[in-house]
Amino acid sequence: MYHYSVLFVCLGNICRSPTAEGVFQHKVNQAGLEDKIKVDSAGTSAFHVGEPPDKRSQQEAQQSGYDLSYIRSRKADAKDFVDFDLVIAMDLENYHNLSLLKTNGYDDKLKLFIRDYAPDLGIEEVPDPYYGGSDGFTKVLEMIEIASDKLLEEVKGQLDEA
Ligand code: 4NP
Repeated sequence: MYHYSVLFVCLGNICRSPTAEGVFQHKVNQAGLEDKIKVDSAGTSAFHVGEPPDKRSQQEAQQSGYDLSYIRSRKADAKDFVDFDLVIAMDLENYHNLSLLKTNGYDDKLKLFIRDYAPDLGIEEVPDPYYGGSDGFTKVLEMIEIASDKLLEEVKGQLDEA
């Protein structure tokens, strides 16, 4: 029975948010918390619905031991704010679109991943790597790993309180 749930959201749900899902799920599993913490991802667009993550994201993740192959793109909807405890946007455009999607009363659930969990990086957003080179995917993975560690600490704190 899950006690806490986290949804990562980007634009296409094929690069950044599936990377965050796979990395965070891996850390949740390593902590033995897979029965307590539910992890998912979605996109604000329907551009790639039903597709697996981008090959470049899968390859980058696999090199560091993360499997993304089971993930399929889906579109975020208003019900996600009911179903999940945290809805974490990758960039400010995703954050803005999610704020328009959600109904009132869920403001506290909406987060911006780097700004809220890895402010020491000195940036606010996970940049969109889709149209860039492979170094963009490497940077995305690095910042997601750092923010995921901090997020897991915070979620563990929530589980202890419950
Ligand atoms: P993501 O990257 O939001 O990190 O999944 C993108 C994927 C696809 C597109 C843009 C960004 N696209 O325009 O199709």
